[in-house]
Amino acid sequence: MKILVTGGAGFIGSNLVRLLVQDKGVSVVNLDKLTYAGNLESLSDIEGADNYQFEQVDLCDAQVVNSVLKKHQPHAIMHLAAESHVDRSIDGPGEFIQSNVIGTFNLLQASLAYWRSLPVAGDAQSLMTNAGSGNDPHSSLIDPQSSPTQSTFRFLHVSTDEVYGSLSPEDSGFSETTPYDPHSPYSASKAASDHLARAWGDTYGLPVMVTNCSNNYGPYQFPEKLIPVVILKCLRGEPIPVYGKGENIRDWLYVTDHAEALYTVLTKGRVGETYNIGGNNERQNIELVRMLCRILDEARPMVDEHQPTAEAFESPVTSSSDDGNENSQLEQLRSSSNSNSVGYESLISFVTDRPGHDLRYAIDPTKIRDELGWEPKEDFESGFRKTVQWYLDNQEWWQRILSGEYQLDRLGKDD
Ligand SMILES: NC(=O)c1ccc[n+]([C@@H]2O[C@H](COP(=O)([O-])OP(=O)(O)OC[C@H]3O[C@@H](n4cnc5c(N)ncnc54)[C@H](O)[C@@H]3O)[C@@H](O)[C@H]2O)c1
Repeated sequence: MKILVTGGAGFIGSNLVRLLVQDKGVSVVNLDKLTYAGNLESLSDIEGADNYQFEQVDLCDAQVVNSVLKKHQPHAIMHLAAESHVDRSIDGPGEFIQSNVIGTFNLLQASLAYWRSLPVAGDAQSLMTNAGSGNDPHSSLIDPQSSPTQSTFRFLHVSTDEVYGSLSPEDSGFSETTPYDPHSPYSASKAASDHLARAWGDTYGLPVMVTNCSNNYGPYQFPEKLIPVVILKCLRGEPIPVYGKGENIRDWLYVTDHAEALYTVLTKGRVGETYNIGGNNERQNIELVRMLCRILDEARPMVDEHQPTAEAFESPVTSSSDDGNENSQLEQLRSSSNSNSVGYESLISFVTDRPGHDLRYAIDPTKIRDELGWEPKEDFESGFRKTVQWYLDNQEWWQRILSGEYQLDRLGKDD
């Protein structure tokens, strides 16, 4: 069984590739452009594995994408490559249209041509039943004798819950039939790519499945996203930027739970279906940030030199303002947040909200649970403890990133 994973050098992709190579014994071809978010050091533990290969390719280069598929003859494609940071999409939407829309279009076209070149075989309902023998659901996939066929080939398109728009606090979670209503250039570009993937299934018969998942967290997340930002700001003794009043709600999914869910959908899911993947972990951002601070207070108590200084609060992250009133508002919020705080919580600093910031995302995971038997293993407490510990144990990984261009700066204020 050979799977071509796009975006395998990114956060979710690297966790997925590790799961496939190490735990599932699947052969993996990792196709990645290596943008700022792609990092082969996230895969250093498997780079020499016999069942792992890397191809540095930009999905916008249609010819090369075609030739990679012909060369590797995969049984399935798991498409994760994308520009993924909402704040960056506000500053520079063009890259998001190129990689997420044009890149997905190129991959679908190449996949269709490749799929049409495969022999038609069997009437399998899923990869698992077709390749399967015996009771171990995973061993069936590694059958070295099975070559890819039209009936067993799968194209799994990985997307986000952000395509559904924003929920109010009393709404039920997004289901697979919730209408699309994207608000940011990022979510709009992902919505476009989802529509393309489904259209290639409906129009040309390509065996497409789509997943839409909630916010991921865990090891190897690029330090521009909320959770690593909070952890690293704490460790540096710098103000922790919280957008608006921190009231936005997200449903947090541990990244290896997500990787397992993707493998489950690929091997057991029904062609043409969409599966929503959530963590059953809705939290307000401020609640999450406070929890991370408390975990760090236990794991790595703050030392005096990390107490925030007046200069620290004047850093670009917190002092930049869109209008004259913001600084005094911020002062109020800051003092209301910090007056009684001890430890890392005293670093919390409320900053101007992201433009178009969706209030709440939540997933209704009934379908994937009832149909495919998948449920997340990590809960809010266990997943976040593991994540904090990983960033404490792997300082070299993130310090190397921070020694480059990206310096934990605020992006996407649209001013
Ligand atoms: N991180 C989340 O919380 C989350 C939530 C829901 C859905 N998703 C989706 O999951 C997927 C992976 O997200 P992530 O957080 O791992 O992203 P990431 O930004 O960490 O990684 C993206 C990877 O894609 C590669 N890439 C980007 N453009 C490319 C191109 N043109 N050609 C080839 N490779 C390219 C990058 O080099 C990088 O390795 C994305 O499709 C994203 O939309 C992410």
